[in-house]
Amino acid sequence: NWKANSKEDINFVPTMGNLHNGHAELISSAKKFIPNKTLVSIFINPLQFDNEKDLITYPKTQNKDIQLAFSCGAEAIFIPSRQEIFPENNIIYKKASKKLSSKLCGLKRIGHFDGVCTVVYRLLDIVKPKTIFLGEKDWQQLIILKNMIKEMKLNIEVKSISNQRD
Ligand code: PAF
Repeated sequence: NWKANSKEDINFVPTMGNLHNGHAELISSAKKFIPNKTLVSIFINPLQFDNEKDLITYPKTQNKDIQLAFSCGAEAIFIPSRQEIFPENNIIYKKASKKLSSKLCGLKRIGHFDGVCTVVYRLLDIVKPKTIFLGEKDWQQLIILKNMIKEMKLNIEVKSISNQRD
């Protein structure tokens, strides 16, 4: 509904929750750089975890995350269900570029970047932002997502922000 009523272009900050200073910087930079409406998504993507245990123990801090996102200037928060992101029998699996994902972190984390691409592609399809904001801390992810957006001709601007974790 927020999207339907929002005529302005959307700045999009995708997250898996458990927000920290790096996310705070992404959200406030989005606000500062482009005075569009900023939407933050929170979705813990099961496809990008290396094992079930990490997924289960991943911190779930939704109330805190919502507060932080709003206090940094987010205007809407999108918390999709699994069903929304992975509609039954209708998941479009995306593959990360082989060239870009077969080195560095991707060497050990088999399938990780395919999982990231699959979920981000789906989120972009739902949110249809003008600009996506990504942290430079996850450099390989940034390069891979930039590549996917360009190859799929999604017409979405990628802004990368140099941020730091505590
Ligand atoms: O960087 C992250 O938090 C995740 O990889 C992302 C981009 C939200 C996709 O799940």
